[in-house]
Amino acid sequence: MARGGSAVAVLSFLLGLPLLSVLVAGEDPYRFFTWNVSYGDIYPLGVKQQGILINGQFPGPQVEAVTNDNLVVNVFNKLNEPFLLSWSGVQQRRNSFEDGVAGTTCPIPPGANFTYILQAKDQIGTYFYFPSLAFHKAAGGFGGIRVLSRPRIPVPFPPPAADYTVLIGDWYKTNHTDLRYMLDSGKALGFPDGLLINGRGWNGYTFTVQPGMTYRFRITNVGLATSLNIRFQGHAMKLVEVEGSHTMQTAYSSLDVHLGQSYSVLLTADQPGFDYSIVVSTRFTTKIITTTAVLHYTNSAGKAPGPLPGGPTTQIDWSLNQARSIRWNLTASGPRPNPQGSYHYGQVPTTKTIRLANSAATINGKQRYAVNSVSHVNADTPLKIADYYKIPGVFTVGTISDSPTYGGAYLRTSVMGADYRGYVEIVFENSENEVQSWHIDGYAFWVVGYECVRATLHCFLSLALFTFGDLNLSGSNFFDAE
Ligand SMILES: *[C@@H]1O[C@H](CO)[C@@H](O)[C@H](O)[C@H]1NC(C)=O
Ligand SMILES: *[C@@H]1O[C@H](CO)[C@@H](O)[C@H](O)[C@H]1NC(C)=O
Ligand SMILES: *[C@@H]1O[C@H](CO)[C@@H](O)[C@H](O)[C@H]1NC(C)=O
Ligand SMILES: *[C@@H]1O[C@H](CO)[C@@H](O)[C@H](O)[C@H]1NC(C)=O
Ligand SMILES: *[C@@H]1O[C@H](CO)[C@@H](O)[C@H](O)[C@H]1NC(C)=O
Repeated sequence: MARGGSAVAVLSFLLGLPLLSVLVAGEDPYRFFTWNVSYGDIYPLGVKQQGILINGQFPGPQVEAVTNDNLVVNVFNKLNEPFLLSWSGVQQRRNSFEDGVAGTTCPIPPGANFTYILQAKDQIGTYFYFPSLAFHKAAGGFGGIRVLSRPRIPVPFPPPAADYTVLIGDWYKTNHTDLRYMLDSGKALGFPDGLLINGRGWNGYTFTVQPGMTYRFRITNVGLATSLNIRFQGHAMKLVEVEGSHTMQTAYSSLDVHLGQSYSVLLTADQPGFDYSIVVSTRFTTKIITTTAVLHYTNSAGKAPGPLPGGPTTQIDWSLNQARSIRWNLTASGPRPNPQGSYHYGQVPTTKTIRLANSAATINGKQRYAVNSVSHVNADTPLKIADYYKIPGVFTVGTISDSPTYGGAYLRTSVMGADYRGYVEIVFENSENEVQSWHIDGYAFWVVGYECVRATLHCFLSLALFTFGDLNLSGSNFFDAE
């Protein structure tokens, strides 16, 4: 994901690792999906565009699962370009082969199909999928994933009257092939033309609520580059879950949602019967753009009076403070009924510390982005496949330093080694004046701190990472600043 937000929100100083050497039980239920990926006309901002549809839908269909379900998704690529789907938040334990970013598995060639076999092993929560190659995400192909608790596992709030997915994101009228060409020729992406809520523009989508009932809204930023803020006119959001962790239930009047982040909030329809606005606006941008959806009461007497609620705009501290205010509820159940805290951060021996500093650089006359001075080049053979089949000459472990070099940037297929079942701390350092977002695939990790050095606005985000599989192919597939 491009320059959008701190990678994740959450968490506290305690770590819970529900990992045991569990057998992938043969009897966990299977859910089968057949997906046709095709081009089709969409009009999200009122002008016709060629979108990427899944089974004719934009956004794509919702994936609904229960903890431990096996998901078998047979994807038919009817585009004229190779296509690859990534399952953001699905942990891919033991092997990230099917995680679906460049470097894991081969893309699906045009006219071919590939069956992803995933398991929501020991997971609950709100996630999403998206196409990871060729800027396809700018045309659609994304959708929500929700993993529900098993029937007997207590959930720390009563069942909501309905469970709504809210996919928010920036949007460009320029199509994905033209956007890709712009980037490939070294130009910047530029400012988005608008924001979408569930694939629709201004007031294009309606969520219906009954007076007095409480609803769950699962909010994900599926955009390309922009951090967003969301608020519900006249209503408070009670935050209950962030990417599979139940949080301390705190009320917010507005929430920052950075690229790739997912939040669940509860909202009670406790106001007079009107149509209220759900407002989404850009963060950290000089020009602010906004969009709205409708929160429609079944007894609505028309549009709610009063102005649209305002939100934060460029303030960085506000965002960091809000992120710090979000805490894991360690006494609530997760995928299992037991409390979540079992390891104390600080008492677990760290097997490795990795510091990753991003930088923008011009290489061979083009705008590139580098990590620890390496601007990653995808190998022709996906790294995981080269590793599995022991194909020599594709990559070399140790081609990227585990701490910043602050030297000039250069091109390379970068791969860093780490130990199986290691406990790794990663510090992301951003001294650029843009938000940097990271997509970390296939592992369990927890935010342990944020810091900004005021004078330089040099920001740090620390993560603790527990590796369920081998983390030795990290150059592109596990840490990709896309
Ligand atoms: C996918 O497309 C094929 C024809 O290309 C059609 O027969 C099939 O019903 C479609 N499946 C779904 C789930 O839309
Ligand atoms: C492609 O789809 C066919 C028909 O559903 C299926 O039998 C086959 O296993 C799929 N191929 C792959 C590589 O998933
Ligand atoms: C994108 O638009 C250009 C014209 O600006 C056109 O040539 C190209 O075919 C379009 N690509 C897609 C995928 O629609
Ligand atoms: C944390 O979870 C427990 C167990 O479900 C619940 O009783 C408690 O109210 C929760 N605390 C907060 C602050 O949400
Ligand atoms: C990656 O780690 C796994 C597990 O430790 C090991 O079997 C494999 O050989 C390693 N691959 C490389 C390329 O180091």
